[in-house]
Amino acid sequence: MDEARIGFGEDAHRLAEGRPLVLGGVPLPEPPRGAVAHSDGDALLHAVTDALLSAWALGDIGAHFPDSDPAHAGADSAVLLRRALGVALDHAGDLRPRQVSAVVTLDRPKLGPHRDAIAASLAALLELPLDRVGITFKTSEGLAPDHVQARAVVLWG
Ligand code: C5P
Ligand code: MG
Repeated sequence: MDEARIGFGEDAHRLAEGRPLVLGGVPLPEPPRGAVAHSDGDALLHAVTDALLSAWALGDIGAHFPDSDPAHAGADSAVLLRRALGVALDHAGDLRPRQVSAVVTLDRPKLGPHRDAIAASLAALLELPLDRVGITFKTSEGLAPDHVQARAVVLWG
């Protein structure tokens, strides 16, 4: 039986005015721009979901929840994450997610004030204590002002 597994995930969405911006399951108040997406465009949850699946070589979010399927239009990414977690747990024996470490790259708005809420949301979704949920924020230094990007690593043990 495996002693540990690791999964990495990444996601990006284009930004546009008049769209909601949801990160880690947390809708940000009055975002200047939000994510253009078939679902709610939560790049952080999509990255974490891919990391959960990747740890068990189970493909990715699009393979499990195709965005061509109308059932996934406007989908709550938290629901998709929980479904992917269930699929992964079915392959994981006694292992379960033990730690998540993620980076969100976004020029505006500042995300620091929302770090605790985003971490608490991710901790609840993954059933992890807060000290095992590390979230960092970066600007693109103006190199990618039109999109939000997230990357995540999940350790299973
Ligand atoms: O990308 P840069 O190093 O300039 O980011 C500086 C700091 O600004 C980051 O360490 C992070 O704490 C914060 N930040 C933020 N919200 C963003 C981007 C960066 O709070 N959208
Ligand atoms: Mg996405």
